[in-house]
Amino acid sequence: MALVTVDQDLCDREGACIDSCPHSLLLRGPDGIPVTRAGAETLCIRCGQCVSICAKGALVNHFLEGQEFLEKAALNRGADPLTYAMKTRRSVRAFQARPVDKAVFKELFDVVRFAPSGNNAQKLWWIVTLEREGTRHLAELALQWMRRTYYPDSLDEVWTGDADPVLRGAPHLVLCCAPEDYRWAGTDSAIALTHLDLLAVSRGLGTCWSGIFLRALEGWPPLAEALNLPSGQRVFGGLMLGYPRHDYRLVPPRKPSAVDWR
Ligand SMILES: Cc1cc2nc3c(=O)[nH]c(=O)nc-3n(C[C@H](O)[C@H](O)[C@H](O)COP(=O)(O)O)c2cc1C
Ligand code: SF4
Repeated sequence: MALVTVDQDLCDREGACIDSCPHSLLLRGPDGIPVTRAGAETLCIRCGQCVSICAKGALVNHFLEGQEFLEKAALNRGADPLTYAMKTRRSVRAFQARPVDKAVFKELFDVVRFAPSGNNAQKLWWIVTLEREGTRHLAELALQWMRRTYYPDSLDEVWTGDADPVLRGAPHLVLCCAPEDYRWAGTDSAIALTHLDLLAVSRGLGTCWSGIFLRALEGWPPLAEALNLPSGQRVFGGLMLGYPRHDYRLVPPRKPSAVDWR
């Protein structure tokens, strides 16, 4: 069975589903209707982005058929904005070209500094690329590593021209850094990045965790050289960030929380 079915009459041919798939499993067909690439059934991570982002409700992902997608518009944003943000934030993989003002970043970091830290150590610091060219340069270095490691040949038909599979054309990359020997660096950075992630959503921004970039950073010395971190410091996490190109109509299904009540 095909991974997705697209209603040709409903499809607006905007390609939002194509832009949003983490593994680029959807391609633009000759008539603009999305088609799946070879091996899509085994690579799909059931994230539900393709269904949730379709403004017209034209796409069915058969792995997720029968599961509950929530209507974003039916959630009460005003009554509980934090719950709303936590349910509706998505990994954004298609960004507008317009940059985020430095003043907006400053305001975000002025809030994120209130995040908890182990023993109140407050050892985190940040790298932010303010220019798209700088972000792009880092993405290209990471792509060199990606091509040498796990980038399958089948992606050549997807990632052509100046397409960016690492940072997805985001105008900005935010990296969270800490001393490499600090015990709670991983935990503190995950907390701070999560605060930043949700806060960014509340400001109309979109983010995506940059795991591929982090892996490239560990495995590709030219990338580490380009970042030029002070001795003894390490990057513990990062987010791509910018203004999203598409909106999501639905919230994709997730497993219920597994709780062992004692
Ligand atoms: C630690 C971590 C690393 C991630 N790295 C990437 C990445 O490099 N590229 C990407 O497109 N998505 C990345 N993601 C996003 C996940 O694929 C995404 O969170 C998941 O599919 C759920 O989708 P949602 O965030 O829209 O709910 C990462 C997420 C996390 C938590
Ligand atoms: S569910 Fe996620 S991984 Fe699977 S096709 Fe849709 S967007 Fe791609």
